[in-house]
Amino acid sequence: MRDNTHFGFREVPLGEKQALVDDVFHKVAQRYDLMNDLMSAGLHRAWKDALVTAINPPKSEREFTLLDVAGGTGDISFRTIAAGGPGTRAAVADINADMLGVGRERAYAQALDDVVTFVDANAEALPFPDKSFDAVSIAFGIRNVPRIDVALKEMHRVLRLGGRFLCLEFSNVDVPGLDALYELYSFNVVPALGRVVAGDAEPYRYLVESIRRFPRPNAFADMMRAAGFAQVSHRVMSGGIVALHSGWRL
Ligand SMILES: C[S@@+](CC[C@H](N)C(=O)[O-])C[C@H]1O[C@@H](n2cnc3c(N)ncnc32)[C@H](O)[C@@H]1O
Repeated sequence: MRDNTHFGFREVPLGEKQALVDDVFHKVAQRYDLMNDLMSAGLHRAWKDALVTAINPPKSEREFTLLDVAGGTGDISFRTIAAGGPGTRAAVADINADMLGVGRERAYAQALDDVVTFVDANAEALPFPDKSFDAVSIAFGIRNVPRIDVALKEMHRVLRLGGRFLCLEFSNVDVPGLDALYELYSFNVVPALGRVVAGDAEPYRYLVESIRRFPRPNAFADMMRAAGFAQVSHRVMSGGIVALHSGWRL
């Protein structure tokens, strides 16, 4: 077992977790996209490409609507629209008005505001009817949601029969050598970058801690099955830095 206290991990009561997370993304919203590139050395682009390939929007005019939960500034949605045909649409649901605001500006600047919509919503209580989306995704978002089991059930509820759920999330680096390097990078370089670029190290320290607390892939797969997903699988990328989890509503 990892000794969490060694890193000064805070025990955050469930009821306070959402407020802490909201504060983090309120502080970083304007610099979020830049920070993603800096902190992952651009790798987040390849991970997101893998997610969009799995979403597999049709190239044809066939209607296809993605719901991207905790979609923030809309990255996954914009990439899905770019990969799909003229019938592809995307809805970004996020709890943070600042992140959504940056996303709306991006959509407007690219004249995509008619195909990408932004909805103020909590992943634990999605304001959409049952079976209303062809695919549901969540990228680097599920670990921030206080009640993961409730959010998984909600994402299953709004997915149509035969639709695919995809979750991209940080995972566990198990490659000898890389694990120590990754630990050093996460707890030193990431907060330092946060301080220089976003003006505050604390939000990034919290984000790194939340990565270490997230369930291992097999435990998360069990949570997905408990929420109703079938044919649950995952694959790790970049030595286990991230995992792409997949499940279907059958
Ligand atoms: C690390 S960002 C990921 C943004 C985007 N998916 C991406 O990959 O660039 C996490 C996002 O989760 C959102 N979030 C946190 N708790 C949430 C909740 N309960 N419901 C919906 N969104 C939430 C935050 O506001 C933030 O925009």
